[in-house]
Amino acid sequence: MAEHDHPETDPTPPRDAPVELPLPPLPRPFFLIALGLIGVVLTWLPLSIIARARVFTTLEPRIQIFQDMGVQPKSREQQTNALFADDRAMRPRVEGTVPRGQVEDDDRYYKGFLRVYDPAKGTWTIDFNKSLPDQVKINSPLLHRGQARFNIYCYVCHGLDGSGHGPVNERVNELRNNNVLDMTWTAPAILTDNRIRAELDGQIFNTITNGIRTMPSYGSQIPVADRWAIVAYVRALQFSQQAPAAAPGVVPTGTNIEEK
Ligand code: HEC
Repeated sequence: MAEHDHPETDPTPPRDAPVELPLPPLPRPFFLIALGLIGVVLTWLPLSIIARARVFTTLEPRIQIFQDMGVQPKSREQQTNALFADDRAMRPRVEGTVPRGQVEDDDRYYKGFLRVYDPAKGTWTIDFNKSLPDQVKINSPLLHRGQARFNIYCYVCHGLDGSGHGPVNERVNELRNNNVLDMTWTAPAILTDNRIRAELDGQIFNTITNGIRTMPSYGSQIPVADRWAIVAYVRALQFSQQAPAAAPGVVPTGTNIEEK
């Protein structure tokens, strides 16, 4: 037979050869499965730590792998330090030092008034600036600056024209008229009325700086130069409401505008 000429390609095994049956797959030992599962679960650990760190806050300092200069010996506030004779880590300021550029030694400019001592009576009196201090020059940029600042800081209560009808006042009155708000309300002053006209420049400056009665202070928000610009602009508002028709362009006395 032709097949028997090529015994090496004959698929039929010889009769006496041992039969190799395919073995059933070995069952994987349980500990390997368990280890695999544990390994999978362990990979979730960094994820859950990151997720937790994003949600919770802690007072502990964060873990810093590279210290760089983050940790170094130093004295913190209120600690002791044996290096100094008085053991205080916080050093008091050297006597007589003044931060450069921050000496506010001109009360006429920085406060708008002088405190005057009367030795006869033994009392202090407040002498408000009658006019703008010498540092402040009345000109168009100053009034425009004052207008811009007024429209930011004062308008909400006193209104653009100083009439006291700013949006805050109008809203409160609306709520009170509709019985939504039950409260007493001190209306913002009418800045153009005769009472405020009669006030001295230093007084208005001081009102802006420290507030007055129910009006809050704006000293921390408005720098000194801008406060003076606002004072000048309040004078301009007052003039605009009672400008003498006969003499346009002439600034009435009491506004101090013509003095500068
Ligand atoms: C939050 C509202 C509010 C703002 C903002 C405000 N004021 Fe007033 N202002 C008042 C009220 C209210 C009074 C009246 C206070 C009182 O009589 O109890 C007043 C009073 C005044 C008076 C009169 C003070 C006096 O001697 O009786 C002046 C001047 C004045 N404000 C200027 C200003 C200027 C300038 C600004 C902007 C820098 C300003 N105010 C911003 C509420 C405000």
